[in-house]
Amino acid sequence: MTAELLDGRGLAGRIEESLRAEAATFSGVFRRRPRLVVVLVGDMAASASYVKSKHDAALRVGIDAEVIRVSADADTATLVGLVNEIARGVHGSADGILVQLPLPAHVDTIAVLDAVPPDRDVDGFHPENAGLLSQGRPRFIPCTAAGVQRMLIDADIPTAGRHAVIVGRSDIVGRPLALLLSAKGSGGDATVTLCHSRSVDLAEHTRRADILVAAVGRPGMIGREMVKPGAVVIDVGINRVEREGRSRLVGDVDFEAVREVAGWISPVPGGVGPLTVVMLLANTLLAAELRSRAEG
Ligand code: GUN
Repeated sequence: MTAELLDGRGLAGRIEESLRAEAATFSGVFRRRPRLVVVLVGDMAASASYVKSKHDAALRVGIDAEVIRVSADADTATLVGLVNEIARGVHGSADGILVQLPLPAHVDTIAVLDAVPPDRDVDGFHPENAGLLSQGRPRFIPCTAAGVQRMLIDADIPTAGRHAVIVGRSDIVGRPLALLLSAKGSGGDATVTLCHSRSVDLAEHTRRADILVAAVGRPGMIGREMVKPGAVVIDVGINRVEREGRSRLVGDVDFEAVREVAGWISPVPGGVGPLTVVMLLANTLLAAELRSRAEG
C-alpha cells in the first residue's frame, strides 16, 4: 500500500481564498483592515523564516501586518513592556498580537505570553484561551492544532470513536490537539492517548493508533514498525537536517518508510506548516471582528 497524501499546501491555498473574501467584507464594513503585530526576538533563522511566512500570507489576504524585531539580549521586563505598548496602540492598531517562540533562554516566556491580552491572543496561548478550549468552548485555538484538525475534516477522515495517538505534549501542539480531538463535535469525539518523553514502550501506543500525530521535533523518529497498516499519519515536525551535503527540512516521521504502510500521510514540507499560517490569519480576522463588534 502507498498512502494517500494530505496536501496541506493545497488546502491552505483554498482557505486563503475564503479568508481574502472575509477580510474584504470586514474592510468594507469597518473601513479598515484587520492588523496583526508580531514580535520577533533575536536572529534565529528558523523563527525569522516562519515570521516572514506569516507576514507575507497576511498581506496576501488583506490583513495588515507589522513585525517588530527585538535584540536577542532583551530581558523579560523589556519584552513585557513592549507587549503592553502594542496592546495600548503605541505601535498602531493591533487586533492580533503574536510573540514568536522560542524566546531566548534568559527570558521568562510565560510572563511575556501572559502579557498578551486574551482577546488579541491569536496564538491561543493565554491561560484564558487555553481554559476556554479545555471547557469545549474555544475562542482562539492554537494554530497548529487547529490546522491538524482542519486537515482531518477536509479529507473526510472520521475521528469519532477512532483512537488518536499524539506524540508530544507541548502547550503549542500536543496538549491543545488532545483537547480538540476529544471534544464533542466535528473533527472530535476521538479517544485520545497523549504520549511524551516518559511514555513507556512508545511503539506499543503508536501501533494502536487509527490516527497518529507526531509533534516532538525529532527527525524521522516515527518508523514504519510504529505504524498500524492503513493508519492516518500526521507529521507536525519541522526539522532542518544536513543530508548528502545539503540542508533539508524533514518531519518527525520517516516519510519514505511510513508511506508504504500508512493509509494517509502528511508530507514535510507542504503538510501541516502552511495550515498553521492560515489558521493564524483566521484567528486574526476573528480577533478583529470581536474587537470591532465590541466597539460597536
Ligand atoms: N514557534 C513555533 N510554532 C509557533 C507558534 O505556533 N506560535 C508562536 N508564537 N511561535 C511558534
